[in-house]
Order: sequence, then C-alpha cells, then structure tokens
Amino acid sequence: MNPTITNFSALPSADGVWQNLRLAQANGSVLAGMSLIVREGRLVWIGLDATLPIEHAELPRHDGGDRLATPGLVDCHTHLVYGGQRANEFAMRLDGADYEAIARAGGGIASTVRATRAAGEEELYAAALPRLQALLNEGVCAIEIKSGYGLALEHERKQLRVARRLGHDCGVTVRATFLGAHALPPEYAGRSEAYVDLVCNDMLPALADEGLVDAVDVFCERIAFSLAQTEQVFRAAQALGLPVKLHAEQLSDMDGAALAASYRALSCDHIEHLSQKGIDAMKAAGTVAVLLPGAYYALRDTHLPPIAALRAAGVPMAVSTDHNPGTSPALSLLLMANMACTLFRLTVPEALAGITLNAARALGIADTHGALHLGQPANFVLWSLQEPAELAYWFGQRPVHTIVRQGRIATS
Ligand code: NIG
Ligand code: FE
Repeated sequence: MNPTITNFSALPSADGVWQNLRLAQANGSVLAGMSLIVREGRLVWIGLDATLPIEHAELPRHDGGDRLATPGLVDCHTHLVYGGQRANEFAMRLDGADYEAIARAGGGIASTVRATRAAGEEELYAAALPRLQALLNEGVCAIEIKSGYGLALEHERKQLRVARRLGHDCGVTVRATFLGAHALPPEYAGRSEAYVDLVCNDMLPALADEGLVDAVDVFCERIAFSLAQTEQVFRAAQALGLPVKLHAEQLSDMDGAALAASYRALSCDHIEHLSQKGIDAMKAAGTVAVLLPGAYYALRDTHLPPIAALRAAGVPMAVSTDHNPGTSPALSLLLMANMACTLFRLTVPEALAGITLNAARALGIADTHGALHLGQPANFVLWSLQEPAELAYWFGQRPVHTIVRQGRIATS
C-alpha cells in the first residue's frame, strides 16, 4: 500500500465569513440564513447573515449555498492502529463459531497482537492512515485511538506513537487511550496477576511519562480481566491523574459500569448487558454510555443495550464505530448513527448528539469539540442534505460537501 502522505499545514485556511448556512440545532431543528466567522483558524462569531459585525467585513466570503452545517463529528471509541486483519474469523463466525470460542482458541485479539507486534511503526502508520482518512472524509474532526494490540511496553508504545503522529500529520484531534489490559498476552498465560502488575507498575507510568496517554481503558470481561484487576488498573490511572473508561458488560454483566462510575469514568462502552445498578451509578457520576452498533451487528448479537432505561435515567448516549479488525471493521460513523437508530431505536437527535456532543463528552473534550464553540479551532461540516435527519437516514453514501477541520478547509 502506498498511502497519500498528508500535508495538513498546506491546506487552505478557512479564515473568512461562511455565509448562507442552515445550522442544525441539537433538537433537530434548523436555523437558516446563518453565518460563521473564522479568524486565525478559530470560530469567532455565529449569527444571522444580516447582522454581520462591521469589523469582520474585510474577510473573504465563502458562500455556503444554503447548505446544512453541523459541528465536526467525533468518533469516541476506535482501535484504529493495528497489524493485519481478521477476515478469516469473519468466515469462521459465519460458519457457526462464536467470538468467545475463537478468542479462547488463541484467535481474536491475540491474533491481532501477533500481527501488530510483527509490524514496525512505519507499517502500522501506513496501514492506519487510509482508515483514518476514510473517517475524516466523512467529517470526523476528533477521534479516540486505543492501544491494546501490543500488550508489551515497546509494542503499546509503537501503537500510541502512531496515534499521536496521525493526529499531528492529519490535523485532527486524537485522544490516545492506553488499553494495556485488553487481553492476556501469551507469555503471561496463567499469570494474569503478574501481567496486570506490569500494566500498572511499568507500562502505564512509562507511557504516561512519555506523554502518550490521555485516558486509560480496560476490557472487563470473562475472556479478559476481572473486576478486581480492572480496579487495580483504575487505581494506577487515578494515581497518575488520568481519566478512565471501560469496555463494560459487552458479553456478560461483570458489574464493571458501577465500578467505573465510582472512578468517575468518562464512559462505559458496549454495555449490552448493563444493569439498572450500572445505569444509576453512571447517571450519578456523569459517565457517558457509548453505544457500538457495529460490534453488535458484526457479532450478530441479539442482546440489546438498555436504551429505554438509559434514556429514562438521563444518561448521555454516544455512538461510535469501535473500529477494530475483529468485531467492527467499520469506517463510517454516519452508518453507525443509522444503525444506532435502526438496531437500537435511538431517535435521530439522540444519534446526532451521539456522534457530536456526547461523543466529545465521552472523551472529556466537550469544551472544544462536538458543538460550535466560540473561541476554539474551527471544526464544522457543510452537507449536501436538506435536513439533519438525513445524516442518520442515508447509508452508504458520503453526503459531505465541505469540511473545516482545525481551521483549515480539509475537503478531499
Ligand atoms: O471493542 N471488546 C473488546 N475489544 C474490541 C474488540 C477487539 C478485537 O476483537 O480485536 C471491541 O469490540
Ligand atoms: Fe472497543
């Protein structure tokens, strides 16, 4: 593969008056005849075309053509950097094998660990770049990228360094999440306590010290780490002042969400088997529920996450691709919004908040992303669509017209 080398700083500045826009509102309504003003890469004014302040009159004009405008999208849960792919497991599952059985037989995450360890940093970068580009081309302006396919210091470092480089080179906000406790590496078979000690006492402090960690995640599951081991990792994160997140209650109810909430987790993700106790704890802690319909679909799961109870409790819901080579090889956040509506019965405004504001909350970046934030780097998208509901309605098409990312016109 010969990926395009991006040169974000060479893209044109978005400075100017973006006129004649229809701004999508959080409740699904639209404000017509609106302008956005970008100066030195930052969004400095939002208002009616007719009330443009005189001091901005000299700026270049961009005609929005009465297009729909939204904040840049946020993909808040991905495993984007890895070696290889697992189409063979897709075929095995079609043949009747289940995800847990494949994992217990040494496939699953462990197979991607082998491929990721074997790949050099440049190879991982070259493999991840087109995946990231696909998400960016759909309007993603901030993304989370987890480690968790290295499971040894040097290989976790490699993944996180690639995540940082991608953010820098592509001009996209990347939140790097350390997921050293994703699976037990083969050299620690039968010694999970020793591996969790290594994660907490060596890997996490070293990687945090190198500035490679924005948050810490654990896969709390019967094929991964126990509740007590999860808490050990959370304590280590807390000691370093890092926020936590959790792969919680995906295949079974481990009581992980309540534990994560007690550590004021940014989010609990998957949560198909989430209990009312978990929901109440998440509500009290302000923890976001991250819904991953791609994994639900690809695993042909039938156990729906408790959407009605989350809604009734007022837990904010986000929606993400969970891009990974095993359970969700998805590269369209809009498709996930569609699936969150169709499979999980989210309303359209819920799905749209799920890929913007609530996704930003799940990453702890809601002050700068997920909405049109005055004074912050400009991240917004113009769509060739009539109404916001179309963002979740169409699937398989790319309705982007113009992307402004980090103050530059990034449309490909
Ligand atoms: O989010 N659930 C655990 N982790 C990933 C899957 C990882 C894999 O199978 O490679 C997920 O679905
Ligand atoms: Fe995941």
